Amino acid sequence: MSNHIVINADLTKGTISKHIYGHFAEHLGRCIYGGIWVGEDSDIPNTNGIRNDVLEALKGLSIPNLRWPGGCFADEYHWKDGIGPREGRKRMVNTHWGGVVENNHFGTHEFMKLCELLGTEPYVNGNVGSGTVQEMSEWVEYMTFDGESPMADLRRANGQEQPWRLKFFGVGNENWGCGGNMRPEYYADLYRRYQTYVRNYGDNKIYRIAGGPNIDDYRWTEVLMREAGRMMDGLSLHYYTIPGSWEEKQSALDFNESQWFETMKKALHIDELITKHSAIMDQYDPQKRVALIVDEWGTWFLVEPGTNPGFLYQQNTMRDALVAGLSLNVFNAHCDRVRMANIAQTVNVLQSVILTEGDKMALTPTYHVFEMYKVHQDAELLELSNSSAAYEMNGQTLDQISATASRGQDGKLNISLCNVSHEAAAEITIELRGLKDAQASASGRVLHAADIHAHNTVDAPNAVAPVALEGIRFENGILRATLPAASVAVLSIG
Ligand code: AHR
Repeated sequence: MSNHIVINADLTKGTISKHIYGHFAEHLGRCIYGGIWVGEDSDIPNTNGIRNDVLEALKGLSIPNLRWPGGCFADEYHWKDGIGPREGRKRMVNTHWGGVVENNHFGTHEFMKLCELLGTEPYVNGNVGSGTVQEMSEWVEYMTFDGESPMADLRRANGQEQPWRLKFFGVGNENWGCGGNMRPEYYADLYRRYQTYVRNYGDNKIYRIAGGPNIDDYRWTEVLMREAGRMMDGLSLHYYTIPGSWEEKQSALDFNESQWFETMKKALHIDELITKHSAIMDQYDPQKRVALIVDEWGTWFLVEPGTNPGFLYQQNTMRDALVAGLSLNVFNAHCDRVRMANIAQTVNVLQSVILTEGDKMALTPTYHVFEMYKVHQDAELLELSNSSAAYEMNGQTLDQISATASRGQDGKLNISLCNVSHEAAAEITIELRGLKDAQASASGRVLHAADIHAHNTVDAPNAVAPVALEGIRFENGILRATLPAASVAVLSIG
């Protein structure tokens, strides 16, 4: 069966916020320590303690925002432990993640420096689970107050004269679980209270994000929107793609075709979750003022053999690339409500874009998807209808092709395409309606590999990398392209 896509190039459906392409870096395993922060005295080339190779790689993604310090770590983090001279900072136990010593060398100043070097918006997640209202309020004052005040003066004493600009602030994380095991009614009240003291100082206007539901906990969304919706700018949603089950996770590298199919199906489940959570939000917020913020998503597999189970270090194959491409296409399609998302996590944890070993680094297939898809950041979503061939296995069916079309601020039309079939190439025809220049030229890049298990390592970093997609052509006004099995492509027109 054929794959036919119709794009109405003159019908836009809203802006795809660049913040959908956000990232998340937690004090977990080797994400911050080793992956991002090596310290100023390290032999690994660094800028103010942040490793240069990772910095340069991340710059290549035009990361719009970076969430920190957690995750579960956020609700145990006491920000005052992470300021002042590093040698004097408190050494604590990271109880959630491996029980290792956290020396607090990477704190507020270091995170803000990282964001400055990346040109990205900081998204700071505050502590509701084990922190006080005063502690949260003082952190915001420390970061953003310009005048004379105890916290602004402390910031200056620690070497930062000017306040930082801070837009995104999360009021707790997973408060139904590691963030305090709360009931939604209780958290809704706490949210109302804590956010009251998350002040806007000067012209720094904070975008307040409430801790939202886990997966399909629709009651959580209902209660939060009903009790506190008018006091928030965003409500988070966490969903991980976990083939097998939470209790019996599977290998990142060693999987069969059935497990590939199951992973695609589970990745696409985010569409249903967003649709249903959005429908609840619509009842309380028909204007869609409050955004749904998918600030944790991605694959979750077993850790690599021999690594600390608490470090969540997993490899990343073409399967992860497809999960990334599918998920981003879903977020793009829901850009009226989903205005931010953060893949978990940036380096060495879960579905990372970068893996490091000592002074070496590899970009994962997921990295390449983010790099190819960055054309969608702040682009106009175009109306698209997709008549896809079926991808069938074990009596179940998925669309073989997933797609997004958008028009960038440079006027170019970009189409991201995923072929989820592990074995069949896809002949695709694309009818471009409403295109001013019917003779426009088209080019494309594709990410694929002969083996669906293909991945990059620090010793073989280029096993998976995008290449030019050959054979794209216009015939009688129809754009034709062939996508290899298990591939992600982006076509550019104009
Ligand atoms: O990303 C890893 C963990 O997953 C985060 O700390 C937590 O919020 C979620 O359960």
